[in-house]
Amino acid sequence: MEPIRRIAVSTGGGDAPGLNAVIRAVAVAAHRHGWECVGIRDGYNGLFLPEQYPHGGLIKLTPERVRGITHLGGTILGTTNRGNPIKYPTPQPDGSLIEVDRSDELLARFREQGVDALISIGGDGSLTIANHFAKKGLRVVGVPKTIDNDLDGTVITFGFDTAVSFATECIDRLHSTAESHARVMVVEVMGRYAGWIALNSGISSSSDVILLPEIPYRLDKVVDALKARTANGRRYSIVVVAEGAKPEGGGHAVIEKRLGAAERLGGAGERVAREIGEASGQETRHVVLGHLLRGGSPTTFDRLISLRFGAAAVRALAEGQSGIMVALDPPTVRYVPLAEATSRMKVVPLDCDTVRTARELGICLGD
Ligand code: F6P
Repeated sequence: MEPIRRIAVSTGGGDAPGLNAVIRAVAVAAHRHGWECVGIRDGYNGLFLPEQYPHGGLIKLTPERVRGITHLGGTILGTTNRGNPIKYPTPQPDGSLIEVDRSDELLARFREQGVDALISIGGDGSLTIANHFAKKGLRVVGVPKTIDNDLDGTVITFGFDTAVSFATECIDRLHSTAESHARVMVVEVMGRYAGWIALNSGISSSSDVILLPEIPYRLDKVVDALKARTANGRRYSIVVVAEGAKPEGGGHAVIEKRLGAAERLGGAGERVAREIGEASGQETRHVVLGHLLRGGSPTTFDRLISLRFGAAAVRALAEGQSGIMVALDPPTVRYVPLAEATSRMKVVPLDCDTVRTARELGICLGD
């Protein structure tokens, strides 16, 4: 195998706290191997559309360039969840869009740029693309990113801890206002089709009801739980709703279906709040935490695993590995095939001890 001289880093999909820490670890560790490291702007757009960027679509990631970014949210490279090169939305003469596989074009750009290996930092979508490149012969290592924590093969993804911590802090703040006004406060949190953020923040913030995508809810069960609280003299209740929560026999609350991108969820909290208000007669308000969960400085936990993941990704390339994802398997970091990590979504197992804990604490899960 040719020795590595130049590697590229890409951040794809929704941003997550810790991305910059991974970028820094990759750049510094690569430099120590004597490799040049470049970052691709906005997913792969920097390679597809270099002319759209003032200084070209690639950023040289020298140790100086990545200094002081470990604690910063977002990604210095930019990201997108619309530029899937395998299903690239391409305009047709009649103005319509169709999905076109442009991965060979992108691989040619990697070769033109002298890129010997790619470190892809992303969630299931980005890592599926990374696996596609690996199968076509590019040396690729993936790093698991997503606030949703829905990637298989790793105990945790970076970004999740920050999202859960902030969601918990926000819900903590709702208790006093909910109590003052004797209201039901419904809080919608992100997480797509997995309920990890809702479950962990809901339990940690002493919420009364938690609705997960994994457990289709029955409104009558939710209302019974809220009425039981009122009967026990509790003036208020907190209901945490995962954006992917759905009623028994019903569907997800979807805002938009997009070509070449995942559907946008939203409205689950509002729907539940309306239904609770109508059925219980208690004043009910809702709040959507949404993208607030993706912002801000990563927690210490996220910084550390991000730095460990970045260093481990470079280590893997130096060892000659490819087609794998860095994964946390406490106390260590290990490698799993990208194909395995992306083969299925990691949702909340209904028999896991966190779900059992919620039930044992008297939290209603809507079933
Ligand atoms: O996957 C991360 C995530 O934040 C999900 O929790 C959410 O459904 C989605 O991305 C939102 O994406 P967008 O930024 O396109 O609205």
